[in-house]
Amino acid sequence: MPRITFIPPDGKSQTVQAQENWSGLQIAKAHGIALEGVCGGCLACSTCHIYIHPDWAARVAAADNEKTPEEEDILDLAFDVRPTSRLGCQIKITKELDGLVVELPKIP
Ligand code: FES
Repeated sequence: MPRITFIPPDGKSQTVQAQENWSGLQIAKAHGIALEGVCGGCLACSTCHIYIHPDWAARVAAADNEKTPEEEDILDLAFDVRPTSRLGCQIKITKELDGLVVELPKIP
């Protein structure tokens, strides 16, 4: 199983075992990590906003997770968007992403 490390704003990171082919949002929710995901992954909110660690950004995209124009549109609704911003519901976790590190944004 791939491992993902979530780093919340307080810096207390949590590494979890991820079910392969689940989204980052699904994995966060399964482990009680504070990632809201109001629309349930329908690409209609921005409450699953995450930052991919810069070391992982290219690998995430290469693992069949390219950012779509629709995701870009929804990300425009998020607070403090950065070059490595993604929507957690749009990231499919595969074994190629074992060791992935993501940060959770501060909620304004
Ligand atoms: Fe709403 Fe990801 S959960 S866009």
